Amino acid sequence: MKLKAELAGRDYIEVDCEGEDLQKPGRVQKVSVLGCSEFMEMMRKMRRSFGNDIAKWPVPGGTDHSSLLLKEMILKLRGEWQFPYPHAEICHCRTVATETVDQAIIAGAHLTEVVTRQTNASTACGTCRPEVQKIIDYRLDKKSS
Ligand code: FES
Repeated sequence: MKLKAELAGRDYIEVDCEGEDLQKPGRVQKVSVLGCSEFMEMMRKMRRSFGNDIAKWPVPGGTDHSSLLLKEMILKLRGEWQFPYPHAEICHCRTVATETVDQAIIAGAHLTEVVTRQTNASTACGTCRPEVQKIIDYRLDKKSS
């Protein structure tokens, strides 16, 4: 099976691993990485320090896009990734995909107001606003308010 963490059109980490269980992926077989120079440098440093098995790398605490992607991949490989909103569309009024909101957060929109400006989510009834906040909180390790 393949696991992929990506920032649309730019950085991604793709890992081939044994088994088909999304909750408990097997041993890492192949890692593919593509991204900006900052991201590639981070991956080089991590590989030099911790080897090729991403599942054993420490989870980065930063909130820059490289750290958020890497954190996602490490948690997925450990079977600990629990994204807080399971549906493909988060804002039904504006037809905004969950992935669009998530990509904005990875790219640096860390306040609901900024996500709203960039994606159009939560600009009508506002019902989706708490869900947008949950994704921000999960990505940034904040307690939900
Ligand atoms: S569901 Fe997002 S503004 Fe209504």
